[in-house]
Amino acid sequence: MNTYHSILDPIAEVYDKWLFAKDPQRYVKQLDLMPAQAGCVLDAGCGSGELALGLAMRANLVIGLDFSLGLLERAQQKQQTRAIGNVIWLVGDVAQPPFANEQFDLVVCMNVLHNLPVERALTCLRALVMPSGRLIVRDQVARHSRMERLPTKPLWDAIRRSPNLIRLYGIRQTMHILATIFTPAASRRSLRPRLFQPALFRDILQGLLPGCVIQERDSQMLALWERPHKLT
Ligand SMILES: C[S@@+](CC[C@H](N)C(=O)[O-])C[C@H]1O[C@@H](n2cnc3c(N)ncnc32)[C@H](O)[C@@H]1O
Repeated sequence: MNTYHSILDPIAEVYDKWLFAKDPQRYVKQLDLMPAQAGCVLDAGCGSGELALGLAMRANLVIGLDFSLGLLERAQQKQQTRAIGNVIWLVGDVAQPPFANEQFDLVVCMNVLHNLPVERALTCLRALVMPSGRLIVRDQVARHSRMERLPTKPLWDAIRRSPNLIRLYGIRQTMHILATIFTPAASRRSLRPRLFQPALFRDILQGLLPGCVIQERDSQMLALWERPHKLT
């Protein structure tokens, strides 16, 4: 486990609002990719739980796993406000998930892999999926090598996409929030260049999730994988 959660814990509420402000439709779009009905679902790196809470409407049980206690507390508050019963929040590491293999009909992992040793995390996540179950992963891919050297790039992107955040907090406070999230050290970690070249990410996905369907849009790459009965 890395220390990223120490950045997120104290700013959980603001981070939650920021994730929305970036793209208020993002969870609706993500839900569109999910099966209409599922048994047991894992949202690996669930953050403040918006997708997990949406998935609860179409699953028997959803487990939201994240290593930020602050974000999970935020998720739990939203769960209570919305009176949703079938979601459990767990503190834990996506790269060492605390579950036995083949427990989930659906595992989703959205915008998390860039923080992790991706091969190890994907190997763990795919092992959790039941035969005929699904794994859906999505993450940012860097298109320009310049991006790897410029930690200010995500900061400016976030400002451009965050008019709601600026309206809510004012420019000065917004800059402070985003600067906290995107300190140069955090940005360097989250833009690990080796993993986020699209071709390499695609190779990793195709190697570990044979037969997966890959979609690429804007700076995101998404893989949908159905687990065969026998893993090779
Ligand atoms: C960019 S947020 C995405 C949250 C959510 N999946 C979404 O799409 O809104 C990344 C999340 O991954 C979590 N995370 C990063 N590395 C993790 C790890 N090794 N184990 C568990 N959670 C992790 C962070 O705490 C954060 O909540």
